[in-house]
Amino acid sequence: MAAIRRKEAGACRFGDQVGRRNGKGREMMETIQWSKDLSVGIAKIDEQHSKLIQIMGELDEAIRKDEAADMLEDILTNLFNYAQSHFATEEELLRKHKYPEMALHELEHQRFIAKAFAFKERLHSKRPGLALELLTFLSSWVLNHIELTDKRYTKHLHGCGVQ
Ligand SMILES: [Fe+2]
Repeated sequence: MAAIRRKEAGACRFGDQVGRRNGKGREMMETIQWSKDLSVGIAKIDEQHSKLIQIMGELDEAIRKDEAADMLEDILTNLFNYAQSHFATEEELLRKHKYPEMALHELEHQRFIAKAFAFKERLHSKRPGLALELLTFLSSWVLNHIELTDKRYTKHLHGCGVQ
């Protein structure tokens, strides 16, 4: 699993729940926690990214307490609010400083929104594994978008004097 490989590489700090099972016998995943390894070197963006980690922590806790079915709608609403606000900030910054990989970056953001909508549409199904599926998707987003795609703009923005 990519997340575990990243842990071994020391790329970011995880909780110690790897392989644990909750009361329903479902396989649990590790919890991603905010650390400097996730920093993109831009204070405002880091602050917003830590908000996503916070939402993931709430989702993780709800799953462990078996309360996800009741909380998933509110968590998804928070996720949409986060995504709209954060993507707008990031895209405005990248556009303003003429980031050359802007189009690809925006495309990844659009795919995130589309995926989040798909989760929202499936809420009514009350599918037991939906919350864990969402957490897996968000963990993958942190590892593939924040740690890879986002970090690619750091050098460009620092060169433009953005800290
Ligand atoms: Fe981004």
